[in-house]
Parts: sequence; structure tokens; C-alpha cells
Amino acid sequence: AAKEGFGKSKLQFTAIPSVDAAVDAVTVPAGYTWQPVIRWGDPIFNDAPDFDLNNQSAAAQEKQFGYNNDYTDILEIPDSKGRRAVLFSNHEYTNENIMFPATMPADQVRAVGAAAHGLSVVELERKNKNKPWSYVKGADLNRRFLNSTVYELTGPVAGSALVKTVADPSGRAIRGTLGNCAGGTTPWGTILSGEENFNGYFVAPGTSAEDKRYGLTSKATARQWELDDPRWDTRNAGYENETNRFGWIVEVDPFDPTSTPKKHSSLGRFKHEGANVIIARSGHAVAYSGDDERFDYLYKFVSRDKYREGDRKHNMTLLSAGNLYVAKFTGNSPAAEITGTGAVPSDGAFDGIGEWLPLVVDGKSAVPGMSVEQVLVYTRLAADKVGPTKMDRCEDVQPSLHTGKVYVACTNNSNRGTGANEAATEVNPRNQNRDGHIVEITETGDQTSTTFTWNLLMVCGDPAQGDVTYFSGFPVDKVSPISCPDNLAFDSVGNLWISTDGAPSGIGRADGLFKVTLEGAERGKVEQFLAVPRDAETCGPIVHDEERSVFVAVQHPGEDGTFEAPRSYFPDYVAAGSTPAAGQVRAPRPAVIQVFRG
Ligand code: FEO
Ligand code: CA
Ligand code: CA
Ligand code: CA
Repeated sequence: AAKEGFGKSKLQFTAIPSVDAAVDAVTVPAGYTWQPVIRWGDPIFNDAPDFDLNNQSAAAQEKQFGYNNDYTDILEIPDSKGRRAVLFSNHEYTNENIMFPATMPADQVRAVGAAAHGLSVVELERKNKNKPWSYVKGADLNRRFLNSTVYELTGPVAGSALVKTVADPSGRAIRGTLGNCAGGTTPWGTILSGEENFNGYFVAPGTSAEDKRYGLTSKATARQWELDDPRWDTRNAGYENETNRFGWIVEVDPFDPTSTPKKHSSLGRFKHEGANVIIARSGHAVAYSGDDERFDYLYKFVSRDKYREGDRKHNMTLLSAGNLYVAKFTGNSPAAEITGTGAVPSDGAFDGIGEWLPLVVDGKSAVPGMSVEQVLVYTRLAADKVGPTKMDRCEDVQPSLHTGKVYVACTNNSNRGTGANEAATEVNPRNQNRDGHIVEITETGDQTSTTFTWNLLMVCGDPAQGDVTYFSGFPVDKVSPISCPDNLAFDSVGNLWISTDGAPSGIGRADGLFKVTLEGAERGKVEQFLAVPRDAETCGPIVHDEERSVFVAVQHPGEDGTFEAPRSYFPDYVAAGSTPAAGQVRAPRPAVIQVFRG
């Protein structure tokens, strides 16, 4: 029997067939339709100019929706009878090759590209719960977060010498956020967003152990912002610590346009994919976060203070103080049975036990030779000292609010088992892991526990192409092929939804969004809900199954093309030779889309 809370979703669909990676279309199930909610360049303030693909400026972009949305959520505005909501979306990075004509002056490319980074909050409206959303230009809560926006650094690193610069001698006021990838929505209604590949924005000496461990080099950056602002080159006097001000978890209150966003040092500094929070039975807030790098680690934060129902002001302080741990997984099958192919060991499961190794406990460092500030700023180096498990690129890590089990999307690791690199282990069981896998963690007792058991929910791939796969025993010929899991979400009845990033180079199919049944006889069944256009990854899934609607951020459509020779025309799909409708362009535009019965 299904557990309490599990049941039949109102969002019924027949899985779509896998889509060839060359197809430039959004593919949705029969009976569903899709349309954009908001696109790159859409004006969000009353004084914002309309998007003009051929005459872009930084001043215009600062007032328009940014580029490459990743984490996305839609939260209903209280007392709006379901007719108004606030949409949060981040802007991870830019694809200058397809955004701007080759003739655009380099300084203009840099300025517009920079203004397309950051975060956006935009109000939505609809006539009733059965109608799709529209965004509201000029609404009260609309907000852009830019490289000039000040974030307050919280926790033990705030004010530390490790984060002071000539522009911020306080070490508490950081301008901008970079590489925002996945994220999470907290139980108290704020948004978390992970600063992931921040290293790509900096020139650094690149010689210290710290610079090397965080991928910082002395090469010119791809976007060359260092030509415009000395802080992007930490070889400049006074800016030596600028890189230490990125790589954090950001928290935003989307309901207060005057609020100061935060960067929480207690959760450590690494290439945060995102963070997701659950309230433990004991009342502590527990946040899970992966470091998305080959052979890097999985982390857990446990708040010092307890959650107070309805006390939003208090709850917004929970991520400022607490314990930080890093995960160690131990398998229970003989090493000889881990073949590196993805074949299941003889006990029938990839499974075992694990522990959360302490890095910071009760405000004190648990790492010999490092202060709390050092552990939190150089978290990768601190973790290296305590022997955690090297993972295959942890992307989203999300607890199920139905069961408390935690799901970890390990997206891929082409270097597993190559050269001197660590070979397959039970928790990362495939060498040259092209298609990724999902780890399922069950904490021992309360979510604050320092021990757990684990098993793999699935080892991804396309069984029809001969890949060795595993879907918790569900017949492999009855699943949608799936590769490179990235973002995770749950529907209201406890099914897991997975969006993918990299399937074209894995199984040669378009990336998409997949529903996975977790409980009962169909546990492990994977059903594809949608596929995204050419070159795009699927991000930020939101499943409002009770309203029969699904939302995704379509990131970097047509990224392998050029401005002059596009490979995608998503989402406007203006036909060649025709005059675009108002607001439309004949070029790829990252966008948040909604899929609904229609
Ligand atoms: Fe930005 Fe880990 O994906
Ligand atoms: Ca086993
Ligand atoms: Ca991601
Ligand atoms: Ca990814």
C-alpha cells in the first residue's frame, strides 16, 4: 500500500517518446500545451525599454529579464486567491556568441553581458487557477539583482580578514552574485541560490593551494570583465580576497523588494550547485548542498537554532549559525563486485552506510590546523583533510518532505577510473560515468543525525542502446531513457521529478524533464514529461500537479550556434522572412515556460 501522502497525482500524462537531440522544439505530452512566462530581455519595470536584439545596451538590460535561468520558483502571493504570484529566477551565465552580433564593440558586449547576470523577481498574474500565468511589468515586487547589488555576508566569516577588500573594509558587504545555478525554497518562504562556477569570472595568481583547489588561474577570463573593474583580477592590490566573496549560498526574500539579500558563510564555500532545506523533527533547519565538480563532495548544514512556525524574521536567521558536515559513503558489497560498468552487485543493490564527518561543530573548527573562518572560506581544502567520499558531480540534493529521504543527483564524471583518478566505488559505480546516477539517503532517526544508510535509486542511461542501467528493479525496457540528472523537484504526492543537462552528449537525445515513481510496485519507473529545444538544458522544474501545470527554465537554447547562424529559434519561433510580432525576435532566448492542459 502507498504510504500516507502518496496517491494518484492529478497531473496525468502519457510519457513522450525520447526526442532526438537535433530537434529544435519543446515537446510536451498529448493534451498539453506550452507557452513562455518570461523571456530573456522582457522589460520588467515601467521605464524599461522593449527588447531590441540589434540595439542592446547595459542600461536596458538592467531593467529587463536576464539570461540563462536556472533555479526557478513560483510562490503564490498570500490573499491573492491564487491570482497573483511571485516568480524568482536566477541568471547563471551568458552565451555571448549567440547573444550579440560579431560586430558589437567588445566593451558593449561586456557591459550588456554583465547586466544579464544576477537574479530576478517578477510578479505574475492569471485570471483563475485554470489559466496560464502572465508576468506583470512594473509590479511592486519586481526586482533585478545586479553586480552592483549589495549582499550581506552572515555567519562566522562576516568581518573576517579573509574577505576584506579595499572597497569593503568591513568584510560584510559583497557586491553581486555569480554563477547562480540550482537553489531551493525554504520552509519560511525565502529563496536560496547556489554560487557555482564563480572561478570563471576571476583572474588570480593561481599559484596557491587555495587558488588551485578552486580552479582559479592567471589566464584572461572568457568575458574579460577584468578590463572594466579591478576586483575581477585578484592580483590587483586591495582585491586579493575578492574571490573569497563568491562561492556561497545566497538567500533572497522575494516578498520584500527593499530587503538586503544574504550570503551565508555557515554553509561553506565551494561550487554550490544549490541548497535545499528541511526542518528536522527536533526543529533544526537542515540544508543539503552538493559541490558540482568531478570528485568533489556532498555537504550538510544543521542550524544551531530551531525553526519557529510563523516567525519569519527569526527563521531568516537560521542559516547564519550551525554545524557543517561532509559525507562519507561506505558500500556493503565486495570491491571485486563493483565492475565499473554499472552492473548491480550480487546482493541486488548498490547500498551501504554513511556518516557525516564534522567540519564545524558548535562554532568551533573540527579540522586540525584550520580556524572556523578558514574551514568556511576554504571548505574544499578543509574537507580534503577529513576523508569524505569523492562523488560524481553532485548537482541538486533535495530531501523529500514526504519521507525525509534525501536524493542526490550525480550528473556524470567522465574522469572516473581514468589515469590516476579514483575508480568506481559502490556509490559511484561506473567508470567514465557518462550518464550519471541518483543516490537515495535515509538518515538514522532525525535529519540532524550524523549517520545514514544509502542506496542508488537509479543508474542512468538508455537501455535500448545497450547501456547497463538500474532502476531499483523496475524493468529497464519500460522506462524513458534518461541521462545526466541535474535538478530535482517533488510533486504534491511525493513523486520525484528530474531535469537533465547533458543527454545530447550522453545518449544523443534531447534533455528533458522526467517523473520518477518512488514508492510501491512501480518504484523506479521513469516517465519523460517534456523535452527542451536544441542545445538547451532543462532547469528549475516546478510541478504544480494540483493545478495540472509544470514549469521549467530552458537554459542556453542554441548555445553551439552563433548570433549570425542560430541553431535554435526558441521560444518565439518566428518564421524566416516573416515580421516578428510585438516583443518577439528570430533568435534563441532562454525563458521560463509553463506547460498546462490546453
Ligand atoms: Fe550549473 Fe552544476 O550546473
Ligand atoms: Ca550492496
Ligand atoms: Ca545544474
Ligand atoms: Ca549541470
